[in-house]
Amino acid sequence: MKIHNSKASLKSTLLPLKNNNKSIGFVPTMGALHKGHLSLVKQAFKENDWVVVSIFVNPTQFDDPADLKKYPKTLDNDLLLLNSVSEKIIVFSPEASELYHQNISSKKYHFSGIEKEMEGKHRTGHFDGVGTVLNLLFDAVTPDKAYFGEKDFQQLQIVKELVILDHIPVKIVGCPIIREKNGLAMSSRNKQLSQKEFSEAALICKLLTTVKEKFHNLSIAKLNQLVEEEFKKNDFFTLEYFEIANSATLKTHPNKLKNVKYRAFIACFIGGVRLIDNIALN
Ligand code: PAJ
Repeated sequence: MKIHNSKASLKSTLLPLKNNNKSIGFVPTMGALHKGHLSLVKQAFKENDWVVVSIFVNPTQFDDPADLKKYPKTLDNDLLLLNSVSEKIIVFSPEASELYHQNISSKKYHFSGIEKEMEGKHRTGHFDGVGTVLNLLFDAVTPDKAYFGEKDFQQLQIVKELVILDHIPVKIVGCPIIREKNGLAMSSRNKQLSQKEFSEAALICKLLTTVKEKFHNLSIAKLNQLVEEEFKKNDFFTLEYFEIANSATLKTHPNKLKNVKYRAFIACFIGGVRLIDNIALN
């Protein structure tokens, strides 16, 4: 497995591969890898000759410096996990100065409006940071295809818009959410949970599944109420948002419309750790 810290050395590995018409899949990550990340890497290998995985905790997408500081960093273990998938992985793990040069700040993006919903409302500047870093990473890797998890469904939709807006010739592939045995969506942040919090956090997926089961019989207002009441009863969690939204526009509708695909989205805190999840409803 090859590990590169600079764009120049990454390019020197990629250029001969590209000249030999080898296809490159790309999986951008912030490290602290788990089976969710590895599922993207495996999907990328099914569709490409070589796979680049970037490991970079991007400062510009964090609106809270404390959150950035406590973000888990487990590089040695990450490399072991990647090596267990394939030796043909090319790791790109730059310092912020290598990627951003002197100017560690975000470009302002205007997407179709989806950036103003949910995560955009609650994490100021988050998607500007994501857009900026992905633009820099795509420029360094120039992949044929790039893989993103539905775990961050809003991010996936934004990346699809980003590559059109910035004219980046890459195909964006969405991959399903990988879950723990108790249903909790795998996340690097799960490492910050105590054992008790980890088992309590199963409630998130349980509630989303209940909403899916009841979606055809209950109104959106009733489903919102059901989730809010469950959170009120539970001392472990603070609900940040629960929304049933149109999968394409990410806007909420007061009533269900025919021929619209809906998803339920949730963000909540458990013991100071922020967790997000979502589920397709129809
Ligand atoms: P990170 O949170 O490390 O996630 C990297 C990729 O893994 C994302 O596409 C995310 O959706 C996917 N992923 C995480 N958990 C998953 C799960 N349980 N099942 C399936 N996929 C999962 O998302 C980011 O990093 C950053 O915002 C990044 C895109 C790298 C830009 O900095």
